[in-house]
Amino acid sequence: MKAIEIKKDVYWVGGIDWDLRNFHGYLTQRGSTYNSYLIVDEKVVLIDNVKHYLFDELIARISKVIDPSKIDYIIQNHIEMDHSGTLPKIKKLCPNAKVLASPKGIEGLQKHYKMDWDYQIVKSGDVLNIGQRNIHFVQTPMVHWPDNMVSYCPEEKILFSNDAFGQHIASSERFDKDYPFNILIEEAKKYYANIVLPYSRQVEKALDIVDTLNVEIICPSHGLIWQKHIPKIMAEYRKWSSNTVKNFALIIYDTMWKSTEKMAYMIQETFEEKEITTKICNLQHTHISDVMTDILCAKYICVGSPTLNNNILPTVAAFLTYLQGLAPKKRIGLAFGSYGWGGQSVGIVEESLRKCGFEMLSQIRLQYIPDEQVLNDEQEKLNKQI
Ligand code: FEO
Repeated sequence: MKAIEIKKDVYWVGGIDWDLRNFHGYLTQRGSTYNSYLIVDEKVVLIDNVKHYLFDELIARISKVIDPSKIDYIIQNHIEMDHSGTLPKIKKLCPNAKVLASPKGIEGLQKHYKMDWDYQIVKSGDVLNIGQRNIHFVQTPMVHWPDNMVSYCPEEKILFSNDAFGQHIASSERFDKDYPFNILIEEAKKYYANIVLPYSRQVEKALDIVDTLNVEIICPSHGLIWQKHIPKIMAEYRKWSSNTVKNFALIIYDTMWKSTEKMAYMIQETFEEKEITTKICNLQHTHISDVMTDILCAKYICVGSPTLNNNILPTVAAFLTYLQGLAPKKRIGLAFGSYGWGGQSVGIVEESLRKCGFEMLSQIRLQYIPDEQVLNDEQEKLNKQI
């Protein structure tokens, strides 16, 4: 287990979670890392830590650089347990280390771990001198929890950004220049869509703050370290946080006897004829967290379900619940579905999309198996609306 030197005496000492495939409902096909950083100056600082089961890995990496008992400060930029889970065990190795976090961070640590540690509250504008270097703190609430903050070292021009700019990627590469860029940006996009999207207004404020700093390296708490592609990821975050969409229609559905599927393909064809890019996502085969990645840039969100027991299919219900929580803005919705007798599904889907605040196209609700004439008629009606 190596520590990776990022700059002289500044090390990555995190843990690699190769097997992670589910991060509270988010399909993490590429695993993840929990990035922890060690700065060795006149004082020794550990920034964030790792999930509880990667403690041995973290300590092995730290020990390659310094005896963990010599840590003076533990900065918790964020208290979620993927970044604080080993704090109780670390504190046993360096009992005199002071724990620094935002006011909400300290409150959260006390509630999580019930320990009377030596805490120091830090707020935006506070600076910790550690010798030749200083650590500046900037609170970034709700990116991703109320406690979040980032730490900035002006002498090294490094921003320790925690969840912001993260990606769920397990890899032995540590820097963006060493990893395929298209995968990196796709995973950053997926991360934004599934974790950060509801807090886009707060992200915009945080980006304004980052713009005032001289940053050459961004060290997030998950995935690769940004160095070569900082302008690109900053531009993408600006785009994502402003809910900028493309002329792109996403058709998301599940089907029982393929009638709703016929409708999905009719809708897809209609958008295609209007020169609008389309993508079909059958929820039997596409994970909702991957659908969200596409939603990040999609203008049209079309959702279909047949009626099952006066309701919608559970896959569609799960997707709509997830979508409402992640709250994309400025979208246009369309509800569709087939039915045999009750026919409640389309109304339920439409109500759910309206709750998201979407402007709605006229719903498409068809009984039993739609024939070509019926589909053509519906296509004509939809064509006039887009
Ligand atoms: Fe990676 Fe909000 O924790």
